[in-house]
Amino acid sequence: MERVTLGSSGLSVSPIAFGTWQLSPRFWGEQSREDALAAMKCACDLGINFFDTADAYGDGYAETVLGEALRDLPRKELVLCTKWFNHFNPDASRYPDLSPQHLRERCDASLQRLGIETIDLCLLHMFDPLTRLEEIAETLTDLRHQGKIRAFGVSNHHVEQVRAQRKYAPYSVVQPAYSLIDPAIETDLLPYCQAENVGVMVYSPLHKGLLTGKYTGNETFTDFRANHPDFQGERFRHLCECVQNLRPMAEKYGVSIYQLVLAATLMHPGIHVAICGIKHPAQIREAAQAPKLTLSREDYFAIRKTLIPTAKIADASGSRK
Ligand SMILES: NC(=O)c1ccc[n+]([C@@H]2O[C@H](COP(=O)([O-])OP(=O)(O)OC[C@H]3O[C@@H](n4cnc5c(N)ncnc54)[C@H](OP(=O)(O)O)[C@@H]3O)[C@@H](O)[C@H]2O)c1
Repeated sequence: MERVTLGSSGLSVSPIAFGTWQLSPRFWGEQSREDALAAMKCACDLGINFFDTADAYGDGYAETVLGEALRDLPRKELVLCTKWFNHFNPDASRYPDLSPQHLRERCDASLQRLGIETIDLCLLHMFDPLTRLEEIAETLTDLRHQGKIRAFGVSNHHVEQVRAQRKYAPYSVVQPAYSLIDPAIETDLLPYCQAENVGVMVYSPLHKGLLTGKYTGNETFTDFRANHPDFQGERFRHLCECVQNLRPMAEKYGVSIYQLVLAATLMHPGIHVAICGIKHPAQIREAAQAPKLTLSREDYFAIRKTLIPTAKIADASGSRK
């Protein structure tokens, strides 16, 4: 699979990253560990070298499973990204904490769970209003000098928050939510990152499964989507109808709706990587084919037009992140 340079981080990664959030039982219910391990190996075999995790996913569980997979994978060829933000209490409650001491502890804990000496990319999972930005920057810079991390960035930050963080240290990557029905970052964060050579790895490119084309609108969910407005009632049915309208074009290209949407997402020049949430090997096999697909400009805009009513609905409900 091709490699892209993730902005000024210098990291060379596949345009598809393997997302491990699915190993968080709190959101996705119990998932098969064996399937996840097999999918991680499969991703490597397919040329995917970029893995995204966070200490928050299953309170360390996702990192532990990824660490287990790494024992049989060529570590040097891989780029591993993790994220920190929460202070975890023994009773499983959490609160934000990016204070220097806590960041250092999170770093050591992640290194231990992953069983590695250096984390290629670490991200602040969210914005912590209580810690001074220069303190965070100094800590990350020091962790890099110690060789514990190679590059750092932020996730779930608005453009002004990114701009402010970058006054204190060279945060080189952002990880925002983005999908063709939730393209809000196109108005500010993406142009900023393009102008400043910041790497962009988007999450939820399939809108948590909704854009895969496998739903009719009549399904019910037992995971966190049971309480998500986009997966309920009339709204869910309407969104699914819009997605199904992409089928003729997917058939024209001989691909699935999932692959069509993923390929279109990656056409944006400001987006370097799409992180795909994966539960088992068949899902990563399908994702891996998407970067091979070249869509015409006309079809790209036709896809957007098909999904525009969807995007408008998302705007109106205020459900975007
Ligand atoms: N920084 C952050 O705050 C943040 C937040 C969210 C996610 N992320 C990262 O981004 C990754 C992706 O986000 P996401 O999980 O929301 O994204 P997604 O890729 O939009 O959706 C993932 C879901 O789509 C379904 N799916 C996956 N591959 C499929 C295939 N080939 N065919 C049909 N269905 C398929 C699976 O659910 P079903 O099989 O149940 O339908 C899967 O759980 C996460 O794993 C995580 O690493 C980061």
